[in-house]
Amino acid sequence: MSLQKICTIDQLKNLLKETVSQKRYLHSLGVAQTTEMLLEHYKCTNYEKTWNGFSAGEFCGVIHDLARELPAADLISYCRKNAIDITQSEIESPVLIHGKVSAHMAKVLCPGYPESWRRAVDVHTTGDSAMDDLALALFAADFVEPTRVFLTDEKRNEYISKPSLDACVYAILCDMIAHWKEKGYHEASEGSLALRKDLEIRLGL
Ligand SMILES: [Fe+2]
Ligand SMILES: [Fe+2]
Repeated sequence: MSLQKICTIDQLKNLLKETVSQKRYLHSLGVAQTTEMLLEHYKCTNYEKTWNGFSAGEFCGVIHDLARELPAADLISYCRKNAIDITQSEIESPVLIHGKVSAHMAKVLCPGYPESWRRAVDVHTTGDSAMDDLALALFAADFVEPTRVFLTDEKRNEYISKPSLDACVYAILCDMIAHWKEKGYHEASEGSLALRKDLEIRLGL
């Protein structure tokens, strides 16, 4: 992948298409569209909406999995080369590193893009504390976008009919943590537990 400067969303989509599988390309476009939809649906205002002609939800959706198909060794070496910190959970499950690597690649492609957008992409894998509406919408969209065939329409509608974005993300997060445990993939990460705690406080649970 060549990390040359990108000026438009179409250039970014083309780069994504050249970089990942068709399935992931379509997933990413679905995430972009669904992030925009959730931000609109929940009338979110707590985020930076636009930058340099890019729209927040679309940009973050398109970029969020740019590094998702890199082998674990490449993700780790990218972090070492670029002085990106890796947590204990990420060392144990290197696939989780793709969020921060994708976020860093976007910095090279689009220098100066908003820090809040970078963070949304960074934490989309497991979540973290203090996420703004953009980060929450991206997190939810990654799970519910239309090409996710493991979800029935009924379940998808159940998530997106929650009364608030916080409640929507909380329902998804609890199901994700239960799923990871059931399948023995990995324990809930520090980030997902921090997000759950934040949401429980905000939702008064
Ligand atoms: Fe991802
Ligand atoms: Fe994704």
